[in-house]
Amino acid sequence: MRNPTDWNKYWDNPDAFILKYFFHRHQFKALADLLKNINFKDPIEILEFGSGSGAEAKWLCQRFKVKKITCIDSNDNMLNQSRKILANVQCEVDLLNLDFFNYESDKQYDIVYSGGVIEHFEPEKRYELLKKHCSATRPDGFCLLYFPTPTKSYWFFRKIYEILGIWIFTDEVPLEADVVIEEMKSLNFNAIKSNIFWKHFLTEAGIIFKRNPH
Ligand SMILES: C[S@@+](CC[C@H](N)C(=O)[O-])C[C@H]1O[C@@H](n2cnc3c(N)ncnc32)[C@H](O)[C@@H]1O
Repeated sequence: MRNPTDWNKYWDNPDAFILKYFFHRHQFKALADLLKNINFKDPIEILEFGSGSGAEAKWLCQRFKVKKITCIDSNDNMLNQSRKILANVQCEVDLLNLDFFNYESDKQYDIVYSGGVIEHFEPEKRYELLKKHCSATRPDGFCLLYFPTPTKSYWFFRKIYEILGIWIFTDEVPLEADVVIEEMKSLNFNAIKSNIFWKHFLTEAGIIFKRNPH
């Protein structure tokens, strides 16, 4: 049984220099690379599971012409941060204060995103969450996932954080990209591109999947 992460200890200021410089600079570069050839004719709708600071949702709203973005998070502080950072985006914003395992809807989106989320759950729950990502993606739509992956560098830096007593992600288990690709394949999604960032730090893998049309 994993000890759940206390998300109240997560970023308390998404505009902090250290966060922008050490995390988002790399994260946004990796996102831009994954999405390089993805374009849409009409304005799109996006869903994010676990929007946290809202910084990645904001980046997606700037990268695409977005009609509406829907963000789900069950933590009040995180949802408030998302609200603040998304206040000036040029599209409709819907923030749902909800445990995403209770999310039920027939609505389908052009892009479904989560970053830093699926690695916090046991395999069975993770698969349940991946299923929610998949059923929320329209046929021919895209699902985009970022998660930590187990490199030597990841374990080295994680150990240092743990020794210093500053590791907060108590239920995080890094995932092999191949495992996630196989699980998504069983849900009718094909990986079309992947990349990593923080190769020499707490390595993160990103994969973009396309839903098969039938
Ligand atoms: C690593 S953060 C996401 C970071 C985010 N992509 C960003 O741009 O800052 C993970 C988020 O998932 C949320 N979360 C975790 N479990 C959840 C659940 N069962 N239902 C809804 N949100 C959840 C947490 O509250 C946290 O804000």
